Amino acid sequence: MADFLIINGPNLNMLGKREPEVYGTLTLEDVRKHTEAKLKDEGVKLEWFQSNLEGEIVERIQKAASQNYRAIVINPGGYAHTSVAIHDALKILQIPVIEVHLSQVYRREDFRQTLLTAKACMAIMTGLGKDAYWLAVKSQL
Ligand code: DQA
Repeated sequence: MADFLIINGPNLNMLGKREPEVYGTLTLEDVRKHTEAKLKDEGVKLEWFQSNLEGEIVERIQKAASQNYRAIVINPGGYAHTSVAIHDALKILQIPVIEVHLSQVYRREDFRQTLLTAKACMAIMTGLGKDAYWLAVKSQL
């Protein structure tokens, strides 16, 4: 059983290929390795989950409600701006949830200015790129 669940939403599996000027050139696997290297002395185990499907993300969050994670880090991708269902699933959880965004969403298009899922999160980090994930975990140690 891992200590932290890291959830990535739609299109984050395309990191490295998608808009590198916005998201950088690292793949999600590179971000995972970077995160784990940064946390190597902490002795924490991370479980990574990625899905492009809203319902799968909802189901993963529901399952997490009966597991024993210390906290969840979620990058909901575009669903951050639209998903009442992910918001509602996050509200079921009794553990800290931190929402992260690689890009600084408040410097971007108007449609990214509403962060719906963030309303169900303890904290949000936006614009720290690949460092957001390990910093979010570290904040809960
Ligand atoms: C993102 C920001 C979202 O607006 C976008 O839809 C993404 C990635 C980020 O990490 O910066 O898919 O969540």
